[in-house]
Amino acid sequence: MRIVLNGGTGFIGQALCLSLVQDGHHVTVLTRNARSAAQLLGPLVTAVEWTGRDAGSWEHSLEGADAVINLAGAPIADARWTDARKTLLKDSRVLTTRLLVEAMSRRSSKPGTLISASGIGYYGASDDRVLNESAPRGRGFLADLCLAWEGEALRAMAFETRVVLLRTGMVLEQNGGALPKMLLPFRLFMGGPIKPGTQWISWIHRRDHIGMIQWALATPGLSGPLNAVAPGAVTVAQFCNLLGRVLRRPSWLPVPGLMLKILLGELGTLMTTGQRIYPAKALSDGYVFQYPTLEPALQAIFTKDQGSH
Ligand SMILES: NC(=O)c1ccc[n+]([C@@H]2O[C@H](COP(=O)([O-])OP(=O)(O)OC[C@H]3O[C@@H](n4cnc5c(N)ncnc54)[C@H](OP(=O)(O)O)[C@@H]3O)[C@@H](O)[C@H]2O)c1
Repeated sequence: MRIVLNGGTGFIGQALCLSLVQDGHHVTVLTRNARSAAQLLGPLVTAVEWTGRDAGSWEHSLEGADAVINLAGAPIADARWTDARKTLLKDSRVLTTRLLVEAMSRRSSKPGTLISASGIGYYGASDDRVLNESAPRGRGFLADLCLAWEGEALRAMAFETRVVLLRTGMVLEQNGGALPKMLLPFRLFMGGPIKPGTQWISWIHRRDHIGMIQWALATPGLSGPLNAVAPGAVTVAQFCNLLGRVLRRPSWLPVPGLMLKILLGELGTLMTTGQRIYPAKALSDGYVFQYPTLEPALQAIFTKDQGSH
């Protein structure tokens, strides 16, 4: 397939590019810095510069593409959510998606598939109830952001492109995403359940996230929201116990939510409001998880001789 993606230099995108190229696909990455993307991704990936804001010659790369994967967005948990930061988080997703879909609409030969990132933030904070793709939208900044983000992607349905909305949970791997930040308290021997510890964490190993994207590319009947989470969501207390066990660090000291917010910033805030999400569609439509449960996923992540994606 000829695949165009943005966000290809990121934590998920970089590993995805590698995997797509290994599978023989032709991959073009839209990036704000083509030179560093080319260095990062190597000669088998074509890096094309865009600003994420403006139409331009990058649009030609969409001509004749079979699929587009939309992963761009400023990092959610890296800085405090000031008003300016919230605007950046939103614009870097909603406006980039709009730009991409408008450019797709102008091609004479339109890509058949758009796989567009979203987040389980769509569902808002939830209690013990298990939520699948038919659950209603929740409240709050992330829920509103996801609604607007998904809305822009869904416009591609107007020209009969198949749209898959990847409602992604916490993606786990050693070299990026939330996990390295969560390790800090453990390395300080302070890791333990975040009070009250009963909040849910819906996670997915990065290999499964990439596997799910590739499965979605190859499954023509699949469209609409797709929860990209493992079936085995855990409570924060269970997560910390398993992480402590795998790292051989004690997990006996409960961490107050306030301390987490100080240590982890907005990621701490996200972790003190739980979400118990279930990948109903992926399971019913035949995706087979490599890591359905957390302990083997963490063991794979912290085993040194594992592959890089
Ligand atoms: N990682 C997770 O746990 C997780 C969970 C839920 C949802 N998601 C979503 O999945 C997508 C990919 O996640 P990720 O963890 O791989 O993200 P990431 O590592 O932060 O990478 C995102 C990419 O977006 C581009 N980008 C960053 N700021 C931008 C801006 N202001 N304007 C336009 N593009 C910008 C960058 O590409 P260039 O520098 O090459 O332009 C960057 O490589 C994101 O949209 C994220 O919200 C991720």
